[in-house]
Amino acid sequence: MEKLNGKVAVITGSARGIGRADAILFAKEGAAVLVSDVDEEPLKEVVKEIKASGGKAEVCAGDVTKPEDCQKVMDMAAEKFGKIDILVNNAGLTRDALIHKMTDAQWDLAVDISLKGTFNCIRAAAKYMMKGGHGGRIINVASVAGLMGNVGQINYSAAKSGLIGLTKTVAREWGRFGINCNVVAYGFVDTRLTREKESQQEEVGGEMVGIPKKVRDMILLQIKPMTPEDAAKPVLFLASDDAAFITGQVLNISSGMYM
Ligand SMILES: NC(=O)c1ccc[n+]([C@@H]2O[C@H](COP(=O)([O-])OP(=O)(O)OC[C@H]3O[C@@H](n4cnc5c(N)ncnc54)[C@H](O)[C@@H]3O)[C@@H](O)[C@H]2O)c1
Repeated sequence: MEKLNGKVAVITGSARGIGRADAILFAKEGAAVLVSDVDEEPLKEVVKEIKASGGKAEVCAGDVTKPEDCQKVMDMAAEKFGKIDILVNNAGLTRDALIHKMTDAQWDLAVDISLKGTFNCIRAAAKYMMKGGHGGRIINVASVAGLMGNVGQINYSAAKSGLIGLTKTVAREWGRFGINCNVVAYGFVDTRLTREKESQQEEVGGEMVGIPKKVRDMILLQIKPMTPEDAAKPVLFLASDDAAFITGQVLNISSGMYM
């Protein structure tokens, strides 16, 4: 049986990587999916792929750092599909530098996308989720960097760690509406954020993303990397009825990178 039959899900950062895999899996499990990302072109491909396999999906591009974009995305989901049951705050970006070299712009961007962007989306979804009266699920995407710190990621670690307090507050405020809010903290998932920095071809927002080869090799000596499809399965679990009584928790999905 499909696990998300009749549900409506909004997934940010779903043009590629883990968010794309979430969208495809959710649609396969019966959800109508509103895919959103700051990059519109690859988003359209995701929708095409979902529709080609008989699923329901619509696009609404938006930048999670802009409250008005977040409102537009939630309004569009409600307009197209009638409600919002599930919100996956997955948009994220790394902007790495050692503490003494980190610029204000690098700090601000990482924090604005991962932390404030998540708040922006939850606040924008409030009138549909909280007042909808039909319960709901919010899954915020963090990282083991938010649990154990990480060299070169003071901005990203702080933002991802901040998601834990944010999540527990949503779980407490909205528990009475039947809305569960949890965090997934990933370790190493094979996406453009974890590819070898030295071999990246394209800048993202004016900087190369990725992990320096030496550091990456060290990580891969100790853990088994996940594909985006592997990473999507625990998100489906938290969105499904199987997780009906799990809220305010951090699910560590890291192949033992953090334990
Ligand atoms: N890949 C990993 O190993 C890993 C580990 C821990 C956490 N994460 C987290 O998982 C999430 C997904 O990352 P991924 O690895 O799939 O990376 P990715 O770069 O493949 O996908 C992230 C998506 O977010 C979008 N995005 C970036 N800024 C945005 C903005 N302002 N508004 C809307 N969309 C925006 C990007 O365009 C991109 O499509 C992120 O939150 C990331 O921090 C990833």
